[in-house]
Amino acid sequence: MDSRAIGVFDSGLGGLTSVRELRKLLPNERIVFLGDTLRVPYGSRDRQTIRDFAEDDFRFLVSRDVKHIIIACGTVSSNLSAEELAAVPVPVTGVITPAAIAAASASSNGIIGVIATSAAVRSGAYQDRISSIDPSLITVSVPCPKLVPLIESEPSAEVDRALDEALREYLLTVKEAGADTLILGCTHYPLIADRISSILGDGVTLVDSGAETARAAAKTLAESDMLNDSKLSAVPEFYVTSDPQRFENSSEHFLGERLAKAVLTSI
Ligand code: DGL
Repeated sequence: MDSRAIGVFDSGLGGLTSVRELRKLLPNERIVFLGDTLRVPYGSRDRQTIRDFAEDDFRFLVSRDVKHIIIACGTVSSNLSAEELAAVPVPVTGVITPAAIAAASASSNGIIGVIATSAAVRSGAYQDRISSIDPSLITVSVPCPKLVPLIESEPSAEVDRALDEALREYLLTVKEAGADTLILGCTHYPLIADRISSILGDGVTLVDSGAETARAAAKTLAESDMLNDSKLSAVPEFYVTSDPQRFENSSEHFLGERLAKAVLTSI
């Protein structure tokens, strides 16, 4: 038994896809969430910058005495080496392996699409992981640099139009390749899953990388007897590096519950 909190981080709203799943699976677990909203997007940065940002994110969560860290960010998960992950002083779960395993088991025709940020696609991490599970699987990866800034924007008809236009452009490659499974390789993308499905149709299974990662972390914690045995439902703590009010407003819709409060912090 371990009553310490689970740490979760992302550059912004995307990490909430992991938090939402964790809340469903383990409502009595304390959660400390960090959204580095001041520096979003991460996905257009170079590898060294992403590593530097990740170091700040880890340091913040470790200073909150968390027992496990979920990297609810495809960009960070795909740009850190196994040695860099092993150097974090608490166990971590990133999104690549859970999403790749879920996609490999969901696909019937062996063609898996991956949409993710430019930095995540450039790393080749999803593709490498999928072929390490089954070398016969074909992976088609598409970088989608326009999506995160649009998802983080104030909602408007103009943003809606731009999102649909960008998605039609990005998903064309996935359609043409005949993928029957699509990894939403950036944790922001499940927030627009309905739009993606309406373009691809019901025949394509979407894999929510944030939710898969929450499930994998919950399993690891249970297997290592590190769950909190409190019977009381816990209130998650949310920290952001800019504009807490805006985060609170947009997150309610995605989380399906009103946040207690988002606290402004520097990291
Ligand atoms: N949600 C993150 C990811 O999964 C970060 C996106 C970004 O900041 O560009 O890649």
